[in-house]
Amino acid sequence: MNVAVIIPTYNEAENVAWIVGRVRNAVPEATVLVVDDASPDGTGDIADSLSAADDRVHVLHRRGKEGLGAAYRDGMRWALSNGHDVVVEMDADGSHSPEQLPRLLDGLSTADVVLGSRWVPGGDVVGWPFWRRTLSRGGSGYTRFALGLPVRDITGGYRVFTADALARIDLDAVLSQGYCFQIDMLWRARVAGLRIREVPITFAERERGRSKMSGAIVAEAMLRVTGWAVASVPTRLRRLFTKEPTTAQSRS
Ligand code: GDD
Ligand code: MN
Repeated sequence: MNVAVIIPTYNEAENVAWIVGRVRNAVPEATVLVVDDASPDGTGDIADSLSAADDRVHVLHRRGKEGLGAAYRDGMRWALSNGHDVVVEMDADGSHSPEQLPRLLDGLSTADVVLGSRWVPGGDVVGWPFWRRTLSRGGSGYTRFALGLPVRDITGGYRVFTADALARIDLDAVLSQGYCFQIDMLWRARVAGLRIREVPITFAERERGRSKMSGAIVAEAMLRVTGWAVASVPTRLRRLFTKEPTTAQSRS
């Protein structure tokens, strides 16, 4: 497996060296790509120095903060055009433990897309206040219901895709800017008939730096999910009445 771990960053100067080091130790054969949106705190410069010292660390500098979705789209295109056959999404703040990555990669034996999941048995969140748990579980619950997506952790950001899976998702059509990108990708993966599997992870709230979650991010997700749900009604009704098999899926 030729694995690329994509780490989007915005103002993660206190975290970037730490997380890159942990990934390089946990999965030494993996390549790391930091995608930085011209962070004012100098994250991009730190990433450049890591890259200068290690052939397996690369940096994509974007011209400004355009959201998680835009950063991942660029990072994924880079990974595909550089011959990687497995692409990983990971936050920079240590919430996604690189030491759990081998377990996620193992999940590819029976899936095209592996989701690190907080909300399946064995999964957990450490350090989140009640409101943040409720927002995440509520967001996943609403989306599961609205889109009929049989996934517990729909917004999570610790994921593995095969390059073939990414090739079957039209990245240019993914317009979501914020964390809604995660739902967008999963919805398209499902429509494409890809096998999706959830593997439990322990998500630990960041200790340094600040979350970029905002009201605008939540609003974008609510609006888009509702739009997709409405647009999918005819297809879902047809399936219901003709008993067409639903797309291939696998639950662990
Ligand atoms: N390049 C870039 N551009 N990176 C960004 C941007 C951006 O506009 N916004 C956020 N990031 C990076 C952060 O620097 C971090 O590495 C990662 O994306 C996640 O951002 P956080 O701000 O730490 O997210 P969170 O902890 O609040 O949110 C978690 O939950 C979300 C909802 O479940 C993460 O797991 C998200 O991935 C998840 O979608
Ligand atoms: Mn975080």
